[in-house]
Amino acid sequence: MIETLSLPPDQAGISNAAQMLRAGQLVAFPTETVYGLGADARSDIAVANIYKAKGRPSFNPLIVHVASLEAATKFVDFPPEFMRLAKIFWPGALTLVAPVKQNSGISDLVTAGLPSLAVRVPTHPLAIRLLEVFSGPIAAPSANPSGQISPTTTAHVLDGLSGKIAAVLDGGACEVGLESTIIGIAGENSDIVLLRPGGLSKSVIEDAIGNKIDASPAEKIVAPGQLTSHYAPISNLRMNVDNPSANEAYLAFGNGLELSNCLDLSPSRDLDEAASNLFAHLRKLDVLACQKRLQGIAVAKVPSVGLGLAINDRLNRASAPRS
Ligand code: TXA
Ligand code: MG
Repeated sequence: MIETLSLPPDQAGISNAAQMLRAGQLVAFPTETVYGLGADARSDIAVANIYKAKGRPSFNPLIVHVASLEAATKFVDFPPEFMRLAKIFWPGALTLVAPVKQNSGISDLVTAGLPSLAVRVPTHPLAIRLLEVFSGPIAAPSANPSGQISPTTTAHVLDGLSGKIAAVLDGGACEVGLESTIIGIAGENSDIVLLRPGGLSKSVIEDAIGNKIDASPAEKIVAPGQLTSHYAPISNLRMNVDNPSANEAYLAFGNGLELSNCLDLSPSRDLDEAASNLFAHLRKLDVLACQKRLQGIAVAKVPSVGLGLAINDRLNRASAPRS
């Protein structure tokens, strides 16, 4: 066990965080999507420690965070479509998976031996400042023990990883609340495919490129981390419930007003608000259900449009049989 420091969101905090990363230590930091567990992406030892701290299977590759598109193209070869996407949506909740350059200097543990690398430029000002001050690529999965709910506050990070990481840079609550959307390339025609729905909705990307994106790639390349049960609370989840029973906690969507043991994702049925509340509400209801020995968490139906697609993806994984 080590003592995990909480670093303030100021110049001193950022420079301490960068110093720790340089020393090969693990530092969690806020992004606009969720908190990331950062390590120097060029250091085998530091990256190996990410897998160890999270209990993450080593076949599940990591996303590398960089400060700019220019920095990204030092490590990956982007096809023209990706240059376009990056110019439109970076910085932002979009991760692009592209062939990794030879001699990129990125640790093989980051890509888990794949010929491709996932990269993203976050928009959170603290993340960008940290990347600039550190002045190198930061590998960062979500800062939670593998298989559990992603963290959207410093308290969530400490809940799961306190004693296992050097520090967390405290940036308050994450605005988007869902992990980034992951886009890759597949097939002979190098089609753009959706590997993980996320904080940037598919329809927004499709509108920008004027093309539909295949959500279930024919070749079944998927983000490896998406294969198993994930985001799992301790309680069982019961999906698509309008009327929860008295001994269930309830995750409502605009219909939770008079119920007890209930949290509403968005009283006004706003999907962006629902996304930003999803993980925090799930955590709170899980604690409540355990404390009050409730049967489980019933979940209201959320429409599968816009960010609803990613919300339902996370809820379905959270309710999947545990592996
Ligand atoms: O918003 C986010 O993406 C957050 C913040 C911290 O940036 N990060 C995040 O990382 O969600 P993580 O490790 O929880 O999820 C990364 C996903 C995993 O499902 C992994 O399998 C996939 O990205 N991935 C990484 N490299 C890949 C690659 N080369 N090919 C396909 N999938 C990849
Ligand atoms: Mg994760």
